[in-house]
Amino acid sequence: MPQVADEPRIRLTGITRTFEVGGTEVRALVNVDEEIRSGEHVAIMGPSGSGKSTLLNVLGCLDKPTSGSYFLDGREVGSLESAELTQVRRHKIGFVFQFFHLIPRLSAVENVELPMLFAGVPKKERRERASTALAAVGLADRVTHLPEQLSGGERQRTALARATILEPSILLADEPTGNLDSSSGRVVLDILDRLNDEGLTLLVVTHDPKVAHRADRVIVLVDGKVVKRVPGDRVVEVMALLAEEEPEALEPGEPGEPGEGTKTGE
Ligand SMILES: Nc1ncnc2c1ncn2[C@@H]1O[C@H](COP(=O)(O)OP(=O)(O)OP(=O)(O)O)[C@@H](O)[C@H]1O
Ligand SMILES: [Mg+2]
Repeated sequence: MPQVADEPRIRLTGITRTFEVGGTEVRALVNVDEEIRSGEHVAIMGPSGSGKSTLLNVLGCLDKPTSGSYFLDGREVGSLESAELTQVRRHKIGFVFQFFHLIPRLSAVENVELPMLFAGVPKKERRERASTALAAVGLADRVTHLPEQLSGGERQRTALARATILEPSILLADEPTGNLDSSSGRVVLDILDRLNDEGLTLLVVTHDPKVAHRADRVIVLVDGKVVKRVPGDRVVEVMALLAEEEPEALEPGEPGEPGEGTKTGE
């Protein structure tokens, strides 16, 4: 697809998303303007309920904004026919989630094959590519395991292989290490960094400053609005801001960090 020089990979203008619940309006995103360059690595931070997942869903074309425009590679997503939108979702965008979202009764390799099945890739090629992708994330000896037979980190690596198997240009990750201990989290983050080095545009929602620190840029959402943008290495400024917004979220004790001193013996 032709791409205009200097056109950002993603351009959002005046994106607003409101939900109506029981006659009340929830403003999940309010007038968001943002540009994301091809190959950029962006972290999205903000208090719980600030609109991070809503933003990711809009970017992933899983949800439509109430108003505003979303240009992906120069084309306005809102103007696409549903068949085109399916193609965009399938081939341009990969998604990973905090709770992995693997299909429980499919093996690791079958999970990774799934996007290729929908895209009509022949069976033999599917198996070969999925096996190679699992090997690339260090899971060559786990291909026939079911999700429940994998560790959390292995599940997330499987989910990453699945999300990138059709070589999307954008990867959207919603708290990808939120459910992992720090060492398996690091393995996942190293894979994300490697994919980004290879040119993948990466957007990561996180509460963890160590995750955001790896990004080129951090965008902070509060009440659906972008309130701050800083380089990843200045994430301490974000933490200071969020401490004012959400003091309880920053108390000692790392979430998702089992072991050491957490056993109370009841
Ligand atoms: N489908 C929906 N229907 C109604 N309200 C919604 C819906 N999805 C999100 N919201 C509301 O929109 C706001 C933003 O939600 P969102 O899930 O984007 O927050 P978040 O920043 O991802 O929070 P968290 O850190 O807890 O995951 C919240 O107030 C939420 O209750
Ligand atoms: Mg969320």
